[in-house]
Amino acid sequence: MPAPEIILRGVQPADAAALHALLVQAFGRESEALLVERLQAYPDTVVLLAEADGELAGCVVFSAVSHAGSQRLAGLGPMAIAPFWQGQGIGTLLLQRGLADCTAAGIDAVVVLGHPDFYRRFGFRPAQERGLHCKWVVPEDAFMVLELRRGALAGLRGQLGYRPEFDEV
Ligand SMILES: CC(C)(COP(=O)(O)OP(=O)(O)OC[C@H]1O[C@@H](n2cnc3c(N)ncnc32)[C@H](O)[C@@H]1OP(=O)(O)O)[C@@H](O)C(=O)NCCC(=O)NCCS
Repeated sequence: MPAPEIILRGVQPADAAALHALLVQAFGRESEALLVERLQAYPDTVVLLAEADGELAGCVVFSAVSHAGSQRLAGLGPMAIAPFWQGQGIGTLLLQRGLADCTAAGIDAVVVLGHPDFYRRFGFRPAQERGLHCKWVVPEDAFMVLELRRGALAGLRGQLGYRPEFDEV
């Protein structure tokens, strides 16, 4: 089978129904789909989509993260690839583009709560190594951080806060 044609692009209002369906399918529940809809109410939320052969195949979301310092931090997630398209490199393409866009936008570092083996490939490291944590009790290697600007996290310690909408997931 030929490799699918992948297009990465920003979200449009017309994507709402397909994006909701994709997230429900990927996570097997509605919570993440509702979360993404709520996060889109913030103008600084970034939703990047992957289309494969004209079909919505994946999404990654970046939202603002608060903390005691002055650095600009973004929280990565939810991220999802539709089951049919998983394991074909689309998640990698989407994440590479998303991180490049964050860097270009002046984001200093990105945090994620997710599969360590997947995110480690992109340079994410356990946040606890830097004395950083989130408010939830999670496996210690699941909350990770990636500096986009070298040295950006120097001196930052303590709790990093996702948007309150994440509490409802
Ligand atoms: C996790 C997910 C985003 C990865 O996207 P994907 O397009 O399937 O990933 P890729 O094809 O780019 O995979 C790149 C590599 O990561 C590995 N990988 C994929 N999913 C992984 C996971 N959950 N844990 C560890 N490694 C994973 C792949 O095996 C692949 O390794 P290889 O290059 O050695 O073969 C996707 O599978 C998904 O949406 N899963 C369900 C929803 C979910 O769990 N989202 C939360 C992410 S924290």
